Amino acid sequence: MRTHLAVVGLGYIGLPLSLALCERGETVIGVDIDQRKVDELRAGITHVMEPYRGEPLEILLRRHLASGRFSVTTSLSEAAKLASVFLVTVGLPVAGDVVDKSPLLACARDLATVLSPGDLVLIRSTLVPGMMEQDIVPVLASGSGLVPGKDFQVAYAPERVAEGRAMEEFQTLDVVVSGLTDACCQRAMDVLGRLTDGQLHKTSLRVAELSKVVENAQRDVNIALAHELKLVAEQHGVDVYELIRMANTHPRVQLLEPNLGVGGFCIPNAYAYLAASISSEELIPLFSLARQINLTAPHRAARQLDEALRQAGKRLSGARVAVIGLGMKDGSNDIRQSPAVHFAEILAERGATVTAFDPTVEPYFPFQAPSLEDCLADADAVAVAAWQAEFDAAPWPALLEGARQPLVVLDLKRRLVQRLQAADWQIRGDTHLPYVAISARRLQASHDCAMEMVP
Ligand SMILES: NC(=O)c1ccc[n+]([C@@H]2O[C@H](COP(=O)([O-])OP(=O)(O)OC[C@H]3O[C@@H](n4cnc5c(N)ncnc54)[C@H](O)[C@@H]3O)[C@@H](O)[C@H]2O)c1
Repeated sequence: MRTHLAVVGLGYIGLPLSLALCERGETVIGVDIDQRKVDELRAGITHVMEPYRGEPLEILLRRHLASGRFSVTTSLSEAAKLASVFLVTVGLPVAGDVVDKSPLLACARDLATVLSPGDLVLIRSTLVPGMMEQDIVPVLASGSGLVPGKDFQVAYAPERVAEGRAMEEFQTLDVVVSGLTDACCQRAMDVLGRLTDGQLHKTSLRVAELSKVVENAQRDVNIALAHELKLVAEQHGVDVYELIRMANTHPRVQLLEPNLGVGGFCIPNAYAYLAASISSEELIPLFSLARQINLTAPHRAARQLDEALRQAGKRLSGARVAVIGLGMKDGSNDIRQSPAVHFAEILAERGATVTAFDPTVEPYFPFQAPSLEDCLADADAVAVAAWQAEFDAAPWPALLEGARQPLVVLDLKRRLVQRLQAADWQIRGDTHLPYVAISARRLQASHDCAMEMVP
């Protein structure tokens, strides 16, 4: 009796998915082709930041390894001895706008060789809509020699959790489920019903594929709208956050706040998946434009920093800029398509001497500093690009003692300026932008206390 569930692909989604299944009482064998990752996981090491009930994911990993509920392997055939259900979380990378289907197709080919009658293949990856019927099912059929939907079952249920909240959302979110046949869909629903307390929504393969891409594309459009509003607010000399706060008092308006663009594996790839599935990209100009607006957001932030430095009598070219945070969003160590990284690279291309610090991101880029202190030393400007929990308790005013004056602060997360103000720093708002502060400097005497912060 093969009672395990196999999770194929142990990345940002597959690992926490495996552990969430373990938490729900399942016994899981995880499969990944990356030998180093498998070795690390076996040793109880992971860099995936998905806290669960106040504990790092590593604690949960070690607990389930020790209890035998979770095991890992590089061998699909080893997994197939224990499991008849394969949940696949191997993704499709995008380079430029070109989707690379090969990792998932290679995975499907490998899987086909170990399939037995009665097995279920449940794909959880985000797909180019149409891939299930055009690619995955034929590959599984030809490689296995079995008849899909009859000898074995194939289903699709896109994963929709957000990084950082995955452990909770696996167990609470509604899931859209589809299958090659009704029986395939029902079997997938039985499995997923053991994981989530949310509702399961049955639909066709194509609608399930499209719904996931559309969910992400909608967020891309909403984020682009927030960026456009930032430009509008700047033209009017008003605080964009105040503008959004006011508009959102309407019950049917839900504007997002702008910051530095959008990164990660999901939202930035949605447009490419959608465009690859339709005859002409001209049919979806809104999605295309949103992508461009979000992709270019770090360039606009670099221009703003340049402008603020000029107002402070400096130039971006030749300035020392400390970039705070490199994750693709606050609280994330995922640097895939990170706008913060893109921003740091743009600054360097424009002649700035960039140092960056993110305590959650392993050393990888030449501009990474080993500590916040090193990052901030001698800075002409500080740009907050992603906020990590460790920054909350940092002694910012003391750390900035050694910065050059006047100091420019581009506070895209609106966390640093508040802290400086609270420590009696004088913020001279030579700019009308609420997230740019110039000449932040320590007050020399109490009579100097007046703070001037233009809206
Ligand atoms: N990251 C997210 O927040 C998120 C959220 C929802 C959905 N998704 C979707 O989930 C999927 C996985 O995303 P991710 O962020 O976990 O990607 P990831 O790159 O972190 O993980 C994929 C894993 O698959 C492994 N792999 C590649 N080929 C394999 C093969 N043939 N056999 C076994 N393992 C293989 C890789 O080594 C890697 O560990 C994607 O389709 C993504 O769009 C991601």
